[in-house]
Amino acid sequence: MARNLLDIVDLSVEEIDQLIAVAEDIIEHPAKYQDACAHKQLATLFFEPSTRTRLSFESAMLGLGGSVLGFSEANSSSTAKGETVGDTVHTVGCYADIIAMRHPKEGAPFAAAQFCDVPIINAGDGGHNHPTQTLTDLLTIHREKGRLDNFTIGFCGDLKFGRTVHSLVNALSRYENINFVLISPEELKLPRYVKEEALKSKGIPYSQTTDLESVIPQLDILYMTRVQKERFFNEEDYLRLKDSYILTPEKLVNAKADLSILHPLPRVNEIAVAVDKDPRAAYWRQVKNGKFIRMALILKLLGIEV
Ligand code: CP
Repeated sequence: MARNLLDIVDLSVEEIDQLIAVAEDIIEHPAKYQDACAHKQLATLFFEPSTRTRLSFESAMLGLGGSVLGFSEANSSSTAKGETVGDTVHTVGCYADIIAMRHPKEGAPFAAAQFCDVPIINAGDGGHNHPTQTLTDLLTIHREKGRLDNFTIGFCGDLKFGRTVHSLVNALSRYENINFVLISPEELKLPRYVKEEALKSKGIPYSQTTDLESVIPQLDILYMTRVQKERFFNEEDYLRLKDSYILTPEKLVNAKADLSILHPLPRVNEIAVAVDKDPRAAYWRQVKNGKFIRMALILKLLGIEV
């Protein structure tokens, strides 16, 4: 039975820590890993747009000496002729050793995993989960802060539809002494099921606010997110909410000197480009980390030790 990564809780805390250690070793000694996946093939099946996730998966496999195949939009596959996700994945499982799949429907990678024998990685399913972004975020926090415990993190923006937030809250709820500050408009609050599963059921304290500036001084990490236009049912609501938070250099005046600003990207308006020059802006370093943690994940799911 293949080992999949469909939800971040499929990995134990010990396994996540091991992946981070391997990713950091890859960063230090890339040549050691350059042939680790020779003759292995990764398929990227993207039924929804992507820049970072798809290309970092492909770059990761190429960096391991493997090769890649796949499609970047559903219309260029037989999905356009009515083929089911199950049949598509069954087919690709005949050609590739491991599959990374993104789909707009929540749960699609879980369903797909029933139809093939090779490892399936959820590369984002609708407004639900994005576990490999979470691994990227955890590696970034580890590299920026030197630890994955004992800090205050603010999640800001679209916490309702932001799948990266759901997965990261779930992951961090398993580490010690994390203080969660949830910053969003009323309509875009963290879903009740995420709060129940990750926070309330474990007695983890959290606070909710609509006001970013009032809480910025207490944060060690600020995780900004885009308002997810593609998940809204009507454009009027999106237009009303899209610029709820715009992080500017002025708004960072009272932030800690060692604040780390993360964003899964893409950004639209929620972080002014002027913030990029601030050394606390960690989101471009986060983009780079995405390749190395995916290299570590591919090795793990293929059972390859270097
Ligand atoms: N962070 C992320 O998932 O980016 P892409 O949509 O570009 O893959």
